[in-house]
Amino acid sequence: MVNPEQYALFDGSCRSTVSLILDEFAKDLKNISGKCMDVGSGPGDITKNILLPVLDPKATVIGTDIMEDMVEYANKTYGDKERLRFEVLDIETKNLPEKYISKFDHIFSFHALQWCNDIRQTFENIYCMLRPGKTMLLLSVARHTALFEPLETMAQDKRYASYMGDKKKYVGPFHYSVQPREELNELLEDIGYQVHHCSHREMSSSCTSTEEFISFVTAQYSFAFLDKMPHNLREEFKNEFSRMFTKIKVKQYRDIQDNYNLNLHDEKEETNISAQFTILVAYAQKNVS
Ligand SMILES: C[S@@+](CC[C@H](N)C(=O)[O-])C[C@H]1O[C@@H](n2cnc3c(N)ncnc32)[C@H](O)[C@@H]1O
Repeated sequence: MVNPEQYALFDGSCRSTVSLILDEFAKDLKNISGKCMDVGSGPGDITKNILLPVLDPKATVIGTDIMEDMVEYANKTYGDKERLRFEVLDIETKNLPEKYISKFDHIFSFHALQWCNDIRQTFENIYCMLRPGKTMLLLSVARHTALFEPLETMAQDKRYASYMGDKKKYVGPFHYSVQPREELNELLEDIGYQVHHCSHREMSSSCTSTEEFISFVTAQYSFAFLDKMPHNLREEFKNEFSRMFTKIKVKQYRDIQDNYNLNLHDEKEETNISAQFTILVAYAQKNVS
């Protein structure tokens, strides 16, 4: 079900979070004029319309993504000969292509690294691709109960297990961390980064309905298994995922509203409330030596 257009249609919430983070780091970013990479660039709309405009006009960006379809769509829709192109790269690879090593002045990644199981390899690869003294800005989902936990359960359900594979693939690397900020900070320092900023923030999804969220999230790489399912099973999967997702966000809502009068009158209202999740934001630098 990988579908770049569908993803781009519903990524409004991601666009606003990326804008907020870029605003926060605007002072550091406006002087970036070299070669940049956006890891997990998806359909490319955020790279083109939100990231590129905040950089120095001399900066160039390569958006990279594990999905060939995403890269092809991004190149066709947003690529240009001067400042922006897109290439296929699995950021978890153990064989980083030579052409990327020590070539980048700044590396960004927004809403992508939560799908990387081998998070140490991921950050080592980013470190390797940076030039000495150059920097990385990262925004990744940390905890997302309504998203990760239904998928983890469904990956163990015998109806879906053979299509989904290892349940770990569907749970972000920091979802069950007790102290995600401290863990990320320690990992980055251990690899050799100098960490200038690392924070863990509460968020509330502004996606308007369960249906929109499910369309948005299933348009990505991690849901490529849906293409292999027979039509009926795929529909069953989506219905069950929607039901579990809604149940968790309603519970989160009730917990937050504990001291207020709860007014969820019908199913429609339930599908329209926001899911709670957290993000990690980090700004870090490769050692000079
Ligand atoms: C949620 S989208 C994020 C797109 C965009 N950066 C944004 O902020 O909306 C996550 C992207 O990460 C990509 N991705 C997942 N695993 C990846 C990996 N191991 N290497 C590179 N990209 C990956 C997916 O294909 C998807 O396009």
